[in-house]
Amino acid sequence: MDITILYGTESGNSEMLADDIAGELTEFDTNISDLTDIDPADLDAATLYLIVCSTYGDGELPASAQPFAAALTDGAADLTGIRYAIFGLGDSGYESSYGRGSDQLNVLLTGVGAVRVGEFGRHDAAGFDTASDLATAWARTVVGSLTIA
Ligand SMILES: Cc1cc2nc3c(=O)[nH]c(=O)nc-3n(C[C@H](O)[C@H](O)[C@H](O)COP(=O)(O)O)c2cc1C
Repeated sequence: MDITILYGTESGNSEMLADDIAGELTEFDTNISDLTDIDPADLDAATLYLIVCSTYGDGELPASAQPFAAALTDGAADLTGIRYAIFGLGDSGYESSYGRGSDQLNVLLTGVGAVRVGEFGRHDAAGFDTASDLATAWARTVVGSLTIA
């Protein structure tokens, strides 16, 4: 199974988690890309996409995810057959917008036909868990659920 880890970030945390996930899944050939460098038309049905994305501003997507999200909303993208799992970073101190960036991206992806697999992973910066521990465990579980079947 080919795995590509895509991250959407403003201040670098999601990129660090992408590296941690690649370090966890060493039995696979993993690629890592910033979402800002990805055209939805280039996504490939043979690849599993693990997406790590934060929330910024007041419930907005981080800067590096915004061009990708715009490309999903312009009406041209058809991601039928694309599989992805998503892990959102946020801070529940932002009560009314907690995790909304990854939520938005998830809605956009399913809206153009992509299929989400596995649990929706999350890290809350106001909590006690380490983001790396949660993200690597999430990725391991997602991949395990697909390779056992
Ligand atoms: C200015 C600012 C605004 C933020 N706004 C939100 C928000 O609206 N909702 C949320 O859940 N988290 C919010 N966060 C928390 C970030 O999502 C969290 O710090 C995350 O780890 C950042 O990841 P990144 O470095 O990959 O962008 C905000 C953080 C900052 C500094």
